[in-house]
Amino acid sequence: MMDGLDAQGLDAVRARYVAQIAGAADEAALEAVRLAALGKKGEVSLMMRGLGQMTPEQRQSAGPALNALKDELLAALAARKAALGDAALAERLAAEWLDVTLPARPRAQGSVHPVSQVTDEVIAIFAAMGFGVKEGPQIEDDWHNFDALNIPPEHPARTEMDTFYMGRAPGDDRRPNVLRTHTSPVQIRGMLAEGAPCRFICPGRVYRCDYDQTHTPMFHQVEGLAIDRDISMANLKWVLEEFCRRFFEVEGVELRFRASHFPFTEPSAEVDIRCSWAGGQLKLGEGDSWLEILGSGMVHPHVLRSGGIDPEQWQGFAFGMGIDRIAMLKYGIPDLRAFFDSDLRWLRHYGFGALDMPGA
Ligand code: DAH
Repeated sequence: MMDGLDAQGLDAVRARYVAQIAGAADEAALEAVRLAALGKKGEVSLMMRGLGQMTPEQRQSAGPALNALKDELLAALAARKAALGDAALAERLAAEWLDVTLPARPRAQGSVHPVSQVTDEVIAIFAAMGFGVKEGPQIEDDWHNFDALNIPPEHPARTEMDTFYMGRAPGDDRRPNVLRTHTSPVQIRGMLAEGAPCRFICPGRVYRCDYDQTHTPMFHQVEGLAIDRDISMANLKWVLEEFCRRFFEVEGVELRFRASHFPFTEPSAEVDIRCSWAGGQLKLGEGDSWLEILGSGMVHPHVLRSGGIDPEQWQGFAFGMGIDRIAMLKYGIPDLRAFFDSDLRWLRHYGFGALDMPGA
């Protein structure tokens, strides 16, 4: 047999590597032992390569012996690797162990989304003025979303609203339901449920097929409705001014009522708020710019009739305002799309503490 390949020599090699494997303290050390023995230029690998130069008789005894040595070392390596893995896991479990029975840490992790916060603020302010809160379905039928609000099938407002239509089963030829394009249908539901007089707001999600810095396909509105015997535009003006004063926390807030058109109100007005962009920063109640914040008007007689209310006896005002938009204005949030990205960094920055009270 060649040098080092007699049975004793192999035993010594085996003993040396087995000891090194057993002593390897981590996976890196173990890998170093594996390379030294069985790597391309490892000691055992070189011995096996030497088989080629042996006589057939030598090879007959040395071949199986070397293969056995290689298998033994591979098994020892695998066993040690598993043991190291178990030890690492045990160590991690010990280090990362949590006592779930300990009392919670007082620092709250979550935050209240600005839309929820602003919705609460709006509800609190209107509640103080005697308005209740109503909700309606987000999948709305055509009649509530359009017809009842004086928007007949051929009316251009239907296309202007970029409506999402729901599918119907084949053979069902009723008009498709829609994802409500505004919160105005809840006016109708509220009137039908309550009759006159009534006074409520309807916050909620609405949907339109639109997407840019100030438009997302889902956004939030709050509708307001007040019906009584002698309600006028003067009441509307006071209520909206009072709301803006409290909501924006600006005493000198100034609104501009601009004549406009909505099918569901007559007369109709869009309302702008005075602001300044001096120094790139938005300030309300000063400056020479105007920002549109809502649509409003005196409820159209057709709409009162849809709500089961006699327009000869009753009249009222209505308005519709974008919740996300007033949140952007109040808290200086530049891009509407970020509202709905669920980015935790954004939520931590613009979110509110769970125990904050609405700033009403
Ligand atoms: N529904 C309108 C919209 O989504 C907003 C609106 C305008 C609502 C005037 C009203 C109103 O109640 O009187 O654009």
